Amino acid sequence: MRVLAIESSCDDTGIAIYKEAPLQLVHKLSSQTKIHQRFGGVVPELASRDHCLKMLPLIESVLEEAQITSKDIDGIAYTRGPGLIGALMVGAMMARSLAYSWNVPLIGVHHLEGHLLAPMLEDPKPDYPFIGLLVSGGHTLLAQVSAFGQYEILGQSLDDAAGEAFDKTAKLLNLSYPGGPKIEKLAKKGIADRFKFPRPLMQKDNLNFSFSGLKTHVRTTLERIGQEDQDRADIAYAFEQSAIDQLVRKAKHALIRTGLSRLVVAGGVAANQTLRKALDDMANDLSIEVFFPRLSLCTDNGAMIAYAGAQRFLHGQKEDPKAPICVKPRWPLSTL
Ligand code: KG4
Ligand code: ZN
Repeated sequence: MRVLAIESSCDDTGIAIYKEAPLQLVHKLSSQTKIHQRFGGVVPELASRDHCLKMLPLIESVLEEAQITSKDIDGIAYTRGPGLIGALMVGAMMARSLAYSWNVPLIGVHHLEGHLLAPMLEDPKPDYPFIGLLVSGGHTLLAQVSAFGQYEILGQSLDDAAGEAFDKTAKLLNLSYPGGPKIEKLAKKGIADRFKFPRPLMQKDNLNFSFSGLKTHVRTTLERIGQEDQDRADIAYAFEQSAIDQLVRKAKHALIRTGLSRLVVAGGVAANQTLRKALDDMANDLSIEVFFPRLSLCTDNGAMIAYAGAQRFLHGQKEDPKAPICVKPRWPLSTL
């Protein structure tokens, strides 16, 4: 089955075509970073408008690159939530219209399920069951994934998501949005151990995360010492170490507690090479396997929605094409 997918939950328009056997994966992204950068974060109305402008030309260009036409598409998947309501509506309307006019089934996909299953597009791919560590701009959670569609949340952030903490810290350091990659770059110039930032909720039986205190710590440190280049790099380093330490320790506790031997890491922050290295080292110590998606599949993309949608179709699921469009800006993963 060949699936065309539309991802528009936030500030990236992602379109993909995916077929399992023989494997075909074509995906393209139209990023809105430049539009939102001067506002220091995503402006929902501008995001919706740009999805409207970019979606159809991107679909045409993906079909062209895949060297197929609409007649070769067997189903349409779109991101139903969670995300920005206007942005989700643009994708849902486009998906519904195409499914209607091409007379193919339609399925709405959970954005976080997409992220968690992105490593399934890699070779080798993880077998079930596994522990999923999802670290994005909107969510940070640990889930026990027993089989496709079975997600038990073991812990999650009680305040900011990890990516959000990177973005807010970057803003304090006068770095532009999105801040994650810029903090990673600046931290490489930092002097180790000049500052040690807090690691909250570190008890072994607690798998929740907290990042907002870390951001406050960055602010008060900056107020105290100023914004000289080396100071900023040292703060970026201390921030990154503290955030990564928390993620690695919690993932380790989840693996030990469940006895599972596979860790899947996904979401935008999974693009961070220092985090990847720390998780690799932890996995080596525990003699477990760790799986990451390639960098372009860590941040938002259509390919992960195409994969999850294809699995849902294979499990016999599809939407009633006549039902009212119902996107879900808030949609807990545990309710799937
Ligand atoms: O998964 P994603 O594209 O969007 C959401 O679903 O939220 O994640 C975006 C987040 C942003 O907060 C961005 O700063 C962060 O991922 N990010 C990174 C890196 N690349 C992206 N954080 C740390 N290091 C990176 N290299
Ligand atoms: Zn995402």
